[in-house]
Amino acid sequence: MKKKALITGITGQDGSYLTEHLLELGYEVHGLVRRVALEDPHRRFTRIGHLLDKVTLHPASLESYPSIFHVVSQHEFNECYHLAAQSFVAESFRDGFSTMNTNINGTHYMLAALRELQPKCRFYFAGSSEMFGKVRETPQKETTPFHPRSPYGISKVAGFDLTRNYREAYDMFCVSGILFNHEGPRRGFEFVTRKITSAVARIKLGLANELRLGNLEAKRDWGHAQDYVRAMHLMLQQETANDYVVATGETHTVREFCELAFGEAGLDYNQFVRIDDRYLRPAEVDLLVGDSSKARRELGWQPKYNFPQLVREMVQSDLAAQRQQSSASSNR
Ligand code: NAP
Ligand code: GDD
Repeated sequence: MKKKALITGITGQDGSYLTEHLLELGYEVHGLVRRVALEDPHRRFTRIGHLLDKVTLHPASLESYPSIFHVVSQHEFNECYHLAAQSFVAESFRDGFSTMNTNINGTHYMLAALRELQPKCRFYFAGSSEMFGKVRETPQKETTPFHPRSPYGISKVAGFDLTRNYREAYDMFCVSGILFNHEGPRRGFEFVTRKITSAVARIKLGLANELRLGNLEAKRDWGHAQDYVRAMHLMLQQETANDYVVATGETHTVREFCELAFGEAGLDYNQFVRIDDRYLRPAEVDLLVGDSSKARRELGWQPKYNFPQLVREMVQSDLAAQRQQSSASSNR
């Protein structure tokens, strides 16, 4: 019997990599998507266009309990990966209310629908290193206290607490992955890594001459999303439900990312990067670095990518895409 998985946020970076991983493992994959996505597939399915004939998509909204209830009532799922969220920290400062609504209520609706209809379905919640925020110890691990610094971080702490509460109160298999930043060529353009690598490609091809950024000294523990979705799956295969930190254990500044990314294209970042106060945040998370020894020990998880490989893959992918786009428009 094929295992059935339901993924919310299947159109996002992690959703697309997780879908590929689960299909390779022989799963039947279902995705919960917004109705607008089904109406505008060319723009909304850029990351899963190549998978559309292999998955079943269900329209629903994280803002509507009945729509989620309906999807969960359609099939018996073995596993549910709840990845959908307003995931951009800077946007959460601009509109904290909708971030909270989507991220907290959406998670609560998913858990409540599963409890009602399929309490045996295993549930994964996409927790975040943003929950550590103003860090109380370094490196951060499962026992490190949370001190979120943004509406996004607060919403993820609430999702984490909801997930733990459903585990403890209703004996459901519900876990949170506390994942540190993970990137790749499918990363959204608003996040700093992709903002940098896509700008490197435009600058290299003579289509731009500067890149405006905020805080260059912030430090992040950056891994590759393909490695991190393997950890999500492993968490749901354990005998007992448990929360895990997933991280590389290395930290780098945004400045270092710039240096490496521009260097990959034979450029000096000092000549192109400008500081723009518009990209500074009202409250910053200065330093993140994770201790994932529990995941490595209990899940047998370890990353395949290192930092230079991640940066190289992102730059090379953006260069190839930009070259293709430029030659297509010059042939028109
Ligand atoms: P992403 O690329 O921003 O994808 C977010 C997904 O959520 C998209 O599929 C989006 O659908 C969906 N979504 C957003 N609002 C929705 C709504 N109101 N109703 C239904 N779907 C909605 O994020 P990601 O990087 O893949 O991250 C996946 C999850 O992991 C998120 O919960 C994120 O907060 C968390 N996380 C990410 C990282 C990281 O470094 N990437 C680290 C820790 C935790 P549309 O395509 O329709 O917008
Ligand atoms: N986005 C962005 N744009 N960030 C910038 C910029 C800029 O122009 N300039 C400097 N930064 C700094 C931010 O201030 C932050 O310290 C760091 O770069 C990383 O920002 P993002 O790439 O936007 O990611 P994030 O760390 O805030 O959040 C991501 O990782 C979290 C896990 O720690 C997101 O994927 C979250 O969803 C995820 O939970």
